[in-house]
Amino acid sequence: MTREQLMEIIAQRISRCTACALHTTRTNVVVGEGSLYSPIMFVGEGPGEEEDKTGRPFVGKAGQLLTKILESVNIRREDVYICNIVKCRPPNNRVPKPEEQKACGHFLIAQIMIVDPQIIIPLGSTALSFFLNQNLSISEYRGKEMDWKGGKKLFPMFHPSFLLRNPSKEKGSPKDLTWQDIKKVRTFFDQYKRR
Ligand code: URA
Ligand code: SF4
Ligand code: URA
Repeated sequence: MTREQLMEIIAQRISRCTACALHTTRTNVVVGEGSLYSPIMFVGEGPGEEEDKTGRPFVGKAGQLLTKILESVNIRREDVYICNIVKCRPPNNRVPKPEEQKACGHFLIAQIMIVDPQIIIPLGSTALSFFLNQNLSISEYRGKEMDWKGGKKLFPMFHPSFLLRNPSKEKGSPKDLTWQDIKKVRTFFDQYKRR
């Protein structure tokens, strides 16, 4: 089966999923989008209001900033794969509960197996903590290459919502650090060719 066919099967399963309480308040599930052949996968927390309405990841204000950050190093959204830990919107954009992350996590793991990226970029503390199974602060780990399963590497970055709340571009600010991080992502993208 092709990657497209495998992802379609996952998408069908997600669209019918009732494994956690988030299914009761969703409008649309948000599976993910982008290249199934990307060496880099971005993983956020969960859909927000705009994502719930449209069924697409990172299309609201935070998503528009993520798109701009990618474009600043000439990476188009379509060139990478973008998804979230949970596929249904947590009410009022609260952090997805541990049990919701546990109920949903196998879908993300399946997506990682299908896309098989060399670099996974957890956006924010919640995504980082999911991957490493412990509470970790993004400020401490962003911009650090960390070994993960299957020879894959994590390269955590700040969540774009955090950047919206911290707009300073001064040296050492979250935005300044993100600018450094995305330049590194560009080098990964060139180094790990698309397969
Ligand atoms: N924030 C996220 O974590 N994911 C989205 O898809 C949108 C906003
Ligand atoms: Fe299923 Fe995930 Fe949606 Fe919960 S968030 S209902 S586990 S798809
Ligand atoms: N990301 C940033 O944080 N700053 C820029 O100038 C470009 C991308």
